[in-house]
Amino acid sequence: METVEPGESLWNQQQAISDTLYWELLQANRVYNLGYISYGVVHDLNNLLTIILARIDMAMGVDLDWKEFRHLELARTATLGAAEVVNRLRQSGDIRFDETGGLLDLDSLVLEVAEFFEPHRQEMTEVVGRPVELKVSLGGQGLVKGKATELRTALANIVMNAFDALTSQGGTVTISTEIGGTVRRIVVSDTGIGIPQELLYKIFDPFFTTKGNRGTGLGLTLAREVVERFGGKIEVNSVPGQGSAFTISLPLAQESGCIPK
Ligand SMILES: Nc1ncnc2c1ncn2[C@@H]1O[C@H](COP(=O)(O)OP(=O)(O)O)[C@@H](O)[C@H]1O
Ligand SMILES: [Mg+2]
Repeated sequence: METVEPGESLWNQQQAISDTLYWELLQANRVYNLGYISYGVVHDLNNLLTIILARIDMAMGVDLDWKEFRHLELARTATLGAAEVVNRLRQSGDIRFDETGGLLDLDSLVLEVAEFFEPHRQEMTEVVGRPVELKVSLGGQGLVKGKATELRTALANIVMNAFDALTSQGGTVTISTEIGGTVRRIVVSDTGIGIPQELLYKIFDPFFTTKGNRGTGLGLTLAREVVERFGGKIEVNSVPGQGSAFTISLPLAQESGCIPK
């Protein structure tokens, strides 16, 4: 544990200590964005190659001399080669975004994320000099559809923000699960600085950050994109000076048999 130098702001120290965790999240976001872009590229390339192939086939169907035919034949072989490369790219990584994902237990996801943040919580407690607590409260049951890797990153981004909000005065982050009608919810609340009313509509915008160089402004953008892709939504309530609550709602999967009749 590093010693606290007088005059050095707590904020700076927490920044240094949390670097590893930030890096992990940042990397996860980057890989995610890369995967997302690759998915779009693969999709577009496939469409274009299909058009090129169809045109070559049409051109080969008319009367040609052997030279013209040979040129088209080579173009056709090259196009098929390109399609194969694109296909290999699609299969090589986790770049095909599964719209539905598998069946997912949000309680397990919450427990995993809480465990992931435990070292961060301990370090923050020491640096801030006041208790920083993390509470987990699980309630309700039922599976949702989604991809664990993506939803874990989305949740981790929201939890990271909750801890950031405690930087100056300590406090508590609570992650709870609940059930409400046909949705399962994860609520991440903190007793931190809160968000001014006039910023509430901006915080999900790409690159919006109040953390200067330290922020990327992409955490909430990513979180919302993932949650909405699985049919859910994120809502936020906040009182400046008192804290914030982010609620992720995801529809219960019919297959889990937990939707009330
Ligand atoms: N729990 C929270 N408490 C206070 N402010 C928050 C909280 N969560 C998000 N914010 C605000 O939303 C902004 C955007 O968050 P985010 O997209 O994760 O980017 P970043 O954390 O890199 O700034 C933050 O800079 C902060 O101003
Ligand atoms: Mg963030």
